[in-house]
Amino acid sequence: MAGLIPQSFIDDLVARADIVEIINARVPLKRAGREYRACCPFHQEKTPSFWVSPIKQFYHCFGCGAHGTVLAFLMNYDRLPFVEAVEELAQRLGLEVPREQSGSPAPQAISDDLYTQMGKVATFYQEQLLATERAREYAKKRGLTREIATQFGIGYAPDSWNEVLKRFGASEESRQKLLETGLIIARDSGEGHYDRFRDRLMFPIRDARGRVIAFGGRVLDAGEPKYLNSPETPLFHKGRELYGLYEVRQNRAPLMRLMIVEGYMDVVRLHQSGITYAVATLGTATTPEHLKRAFRLVREIVFCFDGDKAGRAAAWRALNNALPEATAGRELKFLFLPDGEDPDSLVGKEGKEAFEARLAGALPLSEYLVQHLAGAIDISHADGKARFVAEARPLLERMPEGPYRELLLDRLAEAIGVSAERFLKIVGPMTTPDSSIPAPAQAPPRSPRTARSTGRGSLVRQAVQTLLHFPGTVARIPATEIEALGSLDEPGVEILVQLLEGVRQQPAASTAQLLERWRDHPAADRLGRLAAEASIVPDEAAALDELRTALRKLAQGAAAAELDALIAKESGNGLSPEERDRLRELLRRGPG
Ligand code: UTP
Ligand code: MN
Repeated sequence: MAGLIPQSFIDDLVARADIVEIINARVPLKRAGREYRACCPFHQEKTPSFWVSPIKQFYHCFGCGAHGTVLAFLMNYDRLPFVEAVEELAQRLGLEVPREQSGSPAPQAISDDLYTQMGKVATFYQEQLLATERAREYAKKRGLTREIATQFGIGYAPDSWNEVLKRFGASEESRQKLLETGLIIARDSGEGHYDRFRDRLMFPIRDARGRVIAFGGRVLDAGEPKYLNSPETPLFHKGRELYGLYEVRQNRAPLMRLMIVEGYMDVVRLHQSGITYAVATLGTATTPEHLKRAFRLVREIVFCFDGDKAGRAAAWRALNNALPEATAGRELKFLFLPDGEDPDSLVGKEGKEAFEARLAGALPLSEYLVQHLAGAIDISHADGKARFVAEARPLLERMPEGPYRELLLDRLAEAIGVSAERFLKIVGPMTTPDSSIPAPAQAPPRSPRTARSTGRGSLVRQAVQTLLHFPGTVARIPATEIEALGSLDEPGVEILVQLLEGVRQQPAASTAQLLERWRDHPAADRLGRLAAEASIVPDEAAALDELRTALRKLAQGAAAAELDALIAKESGNGLSPEERDRLRELLRRGPG
């Protein structure tokens, strides 16, 4: 695990980057007044509704609602995970990404040399494929076209014990690197090395940025093991990588779902047939980490398994690992192929349309879970029902609390013919995987005196929005006006105060810079949506005015609420001397 990227660096990065330049390089923009516009790259449209603001350093589409900072753009358009988007941007600006040392073991710096060497070896394998008749014949027999082989960088490791060693391990230093990336193996005798991959069709595994981090190699004929993979190395952790994800992201078509299959050949042949959303785990079960990655890109994931016994076992393992990631708004489905077929063979026979038609028959996670349990247990009598519940319980406990789990509960109850309440009673109290993590603070109940709203939404909302659009105004608001909000009991005030204080301490040059500081906050999405809305004020001066007026009104509400409380207390238990002073002061001030 690499160390965290310091927030100060991201701040700096966003301040230096120019969103117009970055987007324009990918989607040509036209100037329109103070902003730029284009047809939205995130949905199909004929008239441009995608706007980029150089002042806010923010993009927004009025058609589909897509919006965000330059980093969000890189994540969505180039389909990069956050860290890779930061790296990409830093590289463009010629900056080195610093890492904070965290409590966990010191992050291992991976030298660029390792990637460079892997890239060179991958190119060598590709050349060898072209140069070796037998390997070319095999690729052809497997139905691979020249184009798809190029796209996936498929190659061939020559039938030799030391070809890679000879070509790429001339010096002690380069041999060390080959060892580190698992391309050569030290001899048992302790003397010398030999190539790991020999006489195999080679599938390079790439990271999010397209760098080769590992290989999978298939024997050309019969032989064991059928597939040989790179070991875990500083570059490669197989529980995290999905084969084909880089290639999926290279496609510009809107990405609606990912399909997770089992094999290298499955991925390559599915892509070749036009199913360009297929990825594979690398000879391991799907891990929650894999799913986290996948769900950053899409809402829907379909697991596709062979219909045989091994396929069913793998599917059940996948379901178990997927449960922690089953949350509202996500779809997890399971597609079983006919016995004896895998995606490679089937798509070869029936083509894209027929294969995709099968997706309609994929089982939702809940359905598959119920079928699996009900299939293994006779639920026609009480003992069976009890066992069914006992088996279901640990599965439910793996799921985060929420609507997804509720629905599954209903479905399970239905399966054994009891009501949901009764089912819950039988299951008994359940633990939740994340019960140790406090839920995001609930908005405090609205007090009728303070909950004021205007036609443009609540005062708090309005203030937050103005602040997001014009963070420069905050420096000109007296600290006392911010402090006056402290005791106000109204939804969102905490966030408003945090925003105000944050920007006072560290001024933000743009909306984008401010939003990036809040990226990991539970309110980040809401802030992003507010930033995307059209500004209610035209400029800095009006914004300052608007913001101070809103703060003053809110502070009045705070004072009024305090007054109510003190008066109520006075007629009850009575007031302390300090409280009495405070009451007098508030009464003197009047309702404002
Ligand atoms: P399969 O044995 O189902 O092979 O392994 P396949 O994908 O259908 O391959 P072809 O069509 O015979 O070429 C599925 C996946 O499991 C991993 C590989 O990732 C493979 O693609 N595997 C399989 C290994 O890692 N090692 C092996 O020895 C076998
Ligand atoms: Mn196969």
